[in-house]
Amino acid sequence: MPAVIVVGMQFGDEGKGKITDYMAERADLVVRYQGGSNAGHTVVVGGVEYRLHQVPSGILNPGKICVVGNGVVVDPSVLIKEMDDIESRGHDVSGLRISHAAHVLMPYHVRQDELEEGSRGARQIGTTRRGIGPAYTDKYSREGIRFGDLIDEECLRKRLEPVVASKNRLFDRLYGASGFGFEEVYRAVLAQARRLRPHIADTARLVNNAIAGGKKVLFEGAQGTFLDIDHGTYPYVTSSNPTAGGACTGAGVGPTRISGVVGIVKAYTSRVGSGPFPTELLDEKGSSIREKGGEYGTTTGRPRRIGWLDTVMLRYAATINGVTALALTKVDTLAGTGKVKICTAYRLGSRTVTEYPAAMDELARCEPVYEELDGWSDEEVAGVTDYDRIPASMRRFVSRVEELVGVKAALISAGRDRRQTISRFEVF
Ligand code: IMP
Repeated sequence: MPAVIVVGMQFGDEGKGKITDYMAERADLVVRYQGGSNAGHTVVVGGVEYRLHQVPSGILNPGKICVVGNGVVVDPSVLIKEMDDIESRGHDVSGLRISHAAHVLMPYHVRQDELEEGSRGARQIGTTRRGIGPAYTDKYSREGIRFGDLIDEECLRKRLEPVVASKNRLFDRLYGASGFGFEEVYRAVLAQARRLRPHIADTARLVNNAIAGGKKVLFEGAQGTFLDIDHGTYPYVTSSNPTAGGACTGAGVGPTRISGVVGIVKAYTSRVGSGPFPTELLDEKGSSIREKGGEYGTTTGRPRRIGWLDTVMLRYAATINGVTALALTKVDTLAGTGKVKICTAYRLGSRTVTEYPAAMDELARCEPVYEELDGWSDEEVAGVTDYDRIPASMRRFVSRVEELVGVKAALISAGRDRRQTISRFEVF
């Protein structure tokens, strides 16, 4: 399969970074298609941990072309810092390409995000405060600065000057907050532009040519299905489309070119920020899974909310994304938990609901219906890389998830390292 999308089927943090890194070994190109530095992908290679926000997770595989697609909003300061860090640890970033149509996330977007969140009071979304919402807002209101605009310094001045002035008016009049000096913003972005210019390219052409030439292309989403601006738990969502369709618009590739969609599913659920979460565990069990799984935001350090696996959500995610194979992650975190629960349906008043409700107020009133399965121990999963050797209880768990979601699991991840991955069939 030459063009595969990797997509999160929950609220993000499903372990996409690890799976992308694992699959990237076989890819020629890895393409990020949406989001920005709100994403936090943790990848462990040979015991060394990397926390990536802007650079595609494939960068740690030598010789790959890694594309930041037009659908991404890129904070150049974060990107440059990450490139420097990766290079200082012996990796090559010369294969990085940034779309000329990707939008530049400016310091005023970060300030705007902070001010907007601060003013929401009890209605806070719980954003990462990285400026993502304001950057996408500017994109759609056609006030954005794109990487292509960084090439000609005079054009950049003409486009940027009125935007900074209008942001300053907004900060002053709406929030009584200080603004930015134009020259300061302009000079900082010019310096970043000089560093990044060799990486700016027509990436849609690059990706399409690669597919046409029989190369293997991996599309890497950030966040997850339920944070999707259209299909997630609106308004508690991010500002882009992490769902598979986002790969087409966010990379400039037609749907007929896509050959498969791998849905990443964590063996339980987690969510950062506000919003409905039917299987949330507010007890000791939730805390112990959080600690064992290191469930703290990669970007913000916030403790993640934890809950049991929810297959009502997963069935919806499988449909919206057209998932062709699952990758089940963090099965090792559930080891030693005792009985493991899977939500198979919701109770809504006197009704039992098996389909994800379209109305968010209904979702907020849903109670989970659980099925209980035997768990597994740490000893049983330690070092297992062969599906036939996993404990029978875990095999039962995997096949029950497959039955309930209607998609087979190709990969099972039982540890943070690239090597701790069980492959059942080829997806790439
Ligand atoms: P924003 O993307 O910073 O605007 O935040 C909107 C919502 O998406 C908040 O609930 C964030 O916590 C959540 N979010 C954004 N990026 C991620 C991510 O990479 N993992 C998990 N949650 C995220």
